[in-house]
Amino acid sequence: MNQGLTTQTEMRLAKRMAGLGTETAFEVLARARVLEAQGRDIVHLEIGEPDFDSPPNVVESGVQALRTGATHYTPSAGIPQLREAIAQEVSRTRRVKCSADEVVVVPGGKPTIFFTYMAFVEEGDEVIYPNPGFPIYESLIQFLGGKAVPLPLREEKNFRLDPNELADLITDRTKLIVLNSPHNPTGSVMEEQDVRDVAAAIGDRDIMVLSDEIYSRLLFEGTHHSIMSLDGWKDRTIMLDGFSKTYAMTGWRLGYGVMRPDLARHFSKLMTNVNSCTASFTQVAGIEALQGDQRSVQHMCSEFKRRRDYFVERINQIEGFSCRVPKGAFYCFPNIRATGWTSKDMADELLEHAGVACLAGTAFGKYGEGYLRFSVANSLENIEKALDRIEGWAKKNV
Ligand SMILES: Cc1ncc(COP(=O)(O)O)c(C=O)c1O
Repeated sequence: MNQGLTTQTEMRLAKRMAGLGTETAFEVLARARVLEAQGRDIVHLEIGEPDFDSPPNVVESGVQALRTGATHYTPSAGIPQLREAIAQEVSRTRRVKCSADEVVVVPGGKPTIFFTYMAFVEEGDEVIYPNPGFPIYESLIQFLGGKAVPLPLREEKNFRLDPNELADLITDRTKLIVLNSPHNPTGSVMEEQDVRDVAAAIGDRDIMVLSDEIYSRLLFEGTHHSIMSLDGWKDRTIMLDGFSKTYAMTGWRLGYGVMRPDLARHFSKLMTNVNSCTASFTQVAGIEALQGDQRSVQHMCSEFKRRRDYFVERINQIEGFSCRVPKGAFYCFPNIRATGWTSKDMADELLEHAGVACLAGTAFGKYGEGYLRFSVANSLENIEKALDRIEGWAKKNV
């Protein structure tokens, strides 16, 4: 029935929506898809997900789980067997005793970021985060009314943080510090001394650390170091990890946060309010991922290393580009300052005129100006094609 409305109702959105940013990778992917629909051939080096299929044993386990009734709600913090399996994995890899009640299973990596902020950030609270860095860190701080304080990661320091700079940024309002190693978008890796320096910079202040370690198994050399391994630091850390990258399971939506049990109970309540639980068959497959054959992880990691080596060697031969060798994750972050182009203009040009989709460094914050991010989670053949195209484009435009 016509209620007499003649104009469209005005939406009175909450103010906080204005603060919400996005992940440019999804936008560039959408633009690339439009070009493809018009018949253009695009090489996709923009999106951060392994090009491999999920390991067959994991897929089989998920299918079996569906067939045998894992289609119902689970406890909000996850099924006990998965929480236990994660606790064992974390105890082993972080060399610190971790128990199942310190684990909260969530749908992917991102919820641990959001829940940590929800639990700690109040209007005006300061959160220090790496810049360039995963764009969701900054977006969600602003969304929740916090003050986003960028910690620059500089190329001169191999994109590792400078502890003195961190110490200078800490104030009485600092509530949380975000760390990410191996790092998106630069591929930098924190060394043991870096982790110790961060701990020393924080000292005994009541500041929590969100340690995003989602690429912890995609490390090309050395050992993974987590601040949670340092004496006394487990209680002050929320450690984020998950299955998306390590097991090529981005679409399954499975990740976890590790934290002290009293905080885990709050996270669990957030899960009850927001998601009820993580998909049940996904959780069953997660146990297989952790406890089953690990050869696919090793294979994927060595493939990424091969592609990284090829990419870095070739991009460094192109006029105006210079690229450090990333130590982990599957991204390369070449410096393009010598070309005279801005990041955004060059990323747009490469997409429109060279058929290569990549991201401007500024998609990761203001300190990303002068860089581009390429994901090497694509076949060597496609990476070669992309580099041929970039080389051809650079010859005419740089
Ligand atoms: C540093 C970092 N953290 C978290 C995530 C989120 O992972 P997920 O897709 O599992 O939510 C990503 C994904 O790109 C990432 O790069």
